[in-house]
Amino acid sequence: MFQLTEEHIAVREAARQFAQNELKPGVIERDSQMRYPKDEIRKMAELGFLGMMVSPEYGGGGMDTLSYVIAMEEISKVDSSCSVIMSVNNSLVCWGIETYGSEEQKRKYLPKLASGEWIGSFCLSEPEAGSDATSQRTLAVEMDDHYLLSGTKNWITNGGTSQLHLVMAQTHVDKGHRGINCLIVEREMPGVVIGAKEDKLGIRASDTHTIMYTDVKVPKENRIGEDGFGFKFAMKTLSGGRIGIAAQALGIAAGAYELAVAYSKEREAFGKPISQHQGISFKLAEMATEIEAARMMVYRAAWMKDQGLNYDQAAAMAKLYTSDVAMKHTVEAVQVHGGYGFVKEYHVERLMRDAKITQIYEGTSEVQKIVISRNILNGELYVPMPVKD
Ligand code: CAA
Repeated sequence: MFQLTEEHIAVREAARQFAQNELKPGVIERDSQMRYPKDEIRKMAELGFLGMMVSPEYGGGGMDTLSYVIAMEEISKVDSSCSVIMSVNNSLVCWGIETYGSEEQKRKYLPKLASGEWIGSFCLSEPEAGSDATSQRTLAVEMDDHYLLSGTKNWITNGGTSQLHLVMAQTHVDKGHRGINCLIVEREMPGVVIGAKEDKLGIRASDTHTIMYTDVKVPKENRIGEDGFGFKFAMKTLSGGRIGIAAQALGIAAGAYELAVAYSKEREAFGKPISQHQGISFKLAEMATEIEAARMMVYRAAWMKDQGLNYDQAAAMAKLYTSDVAMKHTVEAVQVHGGYGFVKEYHVERLMRDAKITQIYEGTSEVQKIVISRNILNGELYVPMPVKD
């Protein structure tokens, strides 16, 4: 369970080399100018990072979730704008279509998404339905052979660049969340309007938009699953997505930690490297310990998903804990750097800003606590430790 394969090590090395050599040089500029990483995403697609878990028969890499989180971790050490684009495409859009879509939907859309020719968005949040995701106001009115889709979606990652949207919308208002459907919407369908790009605290190079749908004619064959399956689809898909965001948080924390260790060995104060002062070395010890604990939680959740075990609780716990570790230790990494930590050139201030979103998207920390506490009260006192045959 805790052994990586040679393939995992190769993925780590490839992602690390790519992040350090190709992403790091321009990351500060992209962040400050809010410039979408177009060329970098194209290279990531060429390296297979956009469809890592998609089966080879649909054009993907056929890798396991553990490989995916290892790659997410390395890329997030440097550039979380790139890793969120990768995360939404892989674990929400591709995984959702491959797991619950029809054969026709898989053949039509997965090769485009896995190759990076198209990028996907996951459209659940609305101006008045964030954490309270059952309160969908977007309507998918049933007609003969299509739905008429109308409504507004908020905070959509990849909103300006994606060609495919998975849109959750209410079809049978009287049935509440059991009346929600997920529709595959193509960007080019008449009635889709992309709103302004958000000016964000972190992950500034990724494009987050509001999207408006007005009487968009979506063929019925674009519905995922049975009528009314949309909310369960969103919950199941988000559960896996949370493993990806936990891996992002892990990478942000580890990236800041690696910078803090290197800086503390170079920087001298009071006649010796600051790493030789307990005030700093104890901080490094705490960072290393908590990042290691976070990594075990993220890898275990990924491993449970790969084994076909129920990973909802493990994923929610991994995201809750790891995003807190990322926030706490990026602040500490800035502190280790002193004044240098407060300027862009040293990278840690960006990691600190990027860490915050991991406590918010794909379910806030409070949403994770709702999921975890409900499972506890339903009798799942601990995440069951799998037993070896
Ligand atoms: N798997 C399958 N079904 C699930 C499920 C899961 N993991 N979790 C819930 N459900 C089902 C329940 O069984 C229930 O179905 P039935 O009534 O048919 O039995 C139904 O969903 C409703 O569940 P709840 O009663 O638990 O719903 P709730 O209103 O109390 O809220 C919640 C649950 C956990 C708070 C949920 O609304 C939630 O996760 N909210 C957060 C949404 C979120 O993560 N948004 C992120 C946006 S996407 C994003 O950020 C992507 C991006 O661009 C980066």
